[in-house]
Amino acid sequence: MLKGRSVIEPSDLTVAEIDEICNLAEKMIVDPSAYIDVCHGKLLATLFFEPSTRTRLSFESAMLRLGGKVLGFADANATSTTKGETLADTIRVVSSFVDVIAMRNPKEGSSLLASHYSTVPIINAGDGGHHHPTQTLTDMLTIRQITGCFENHTICFCGDLKFGRTVHSLVEAMSRYTGTKFIFVSPQELAVPDYIINQVIKPARIEYKCAERLEDVIGEADILYMTRVQKERFFNEEDYIRLKDSYILDANKMKLAKDKMIVLHPLPRVNEIAVEVDDDPRAAYFKQVRYGMFARMALIAKVTGVL
Ligand code: CP
Repeated sequence: MLKGRSVIEPSDLTVAEIDEICNLAEKMIVDPSAYIDVCHGKLLATLFFEPSTRTRLSFESAMLRLGGKVLGFADANATSTTKGETLADTIRVVSSFVDVIAMRNPKEGSSLLASHYSTVPIINAGDGGHHHPTQTLTDMLTIRQITGCFENHTICFCGDLKFGRTVHSLVEAMSRYTGTKFIFVSPQELAVPDYIINQVIKPARIEYKCAERLEDVIGEADILYMTRVQKERFFNEEDYIRLKDSYILDANKMKLAKDKMIVLHPLPRVNEIAVEVDDDPRAAYFKQVRYGMFARMALIAKVTGVL
């Protein structure tokens, strides 16, 4: 039962609940008109203390497509945070107005903290370099729509695996499926954090390996998950400039990949996927964006308890 529950990281959802959300999202994809009124009378707040295009707008379009309404802010500088109001107080206030809150904040752990003060479900829309569970639902719905299942995939994550919260969340979620294997491609400085290896991957007995060159391993991948180097999490500009173009997926590298491999990217993309790859039938990152709206529609419907 998801009604009334906050979703802070993928492990807040059981495998059965992820299936339930994806099943509902798939029904919504097939017949969206059947759901245009299910959230009538419900309100979603989108509290974005950090920039976003996809996540905020797909939450908002999701609620509007369910017949609900949306309020919120995309610029924390226009809120009483600037006067010194704490996140706890902001959440106490906003949760007295709405039925569900989607929140993004640059501080790791902020969504969990918010859930302690909220009287309505908090959906974490990204907390610093920590987690981004609705991106994971987006990624998983895309994987299931294209491949038909969650099992037996070798997933190659490439880019900024240290700060990339979407990587941490997808690893946490996919570690629970039979036959999952991971390949991590990054510069040493942007390697996947030790806590993900020691607390998630090793206990799940998942086979994994690390590499520094994408060309060496791309041929083994069923799913290639490209990521942007997260400029906003670097402490100095020089390091960012040195690392930002570490990996660029182009048509030549795609020649080394399996015919059925799919390329995912949470977006925004900067340089890490050449535009020439967009026309490759294996490029799924724009389909992924649309699936994200349906994944969020299903999640909103579940946590508000309307379905
Ligand atoms: N994927 C994602 O989180 O994109 P935005 O930062 O645009 O929301």
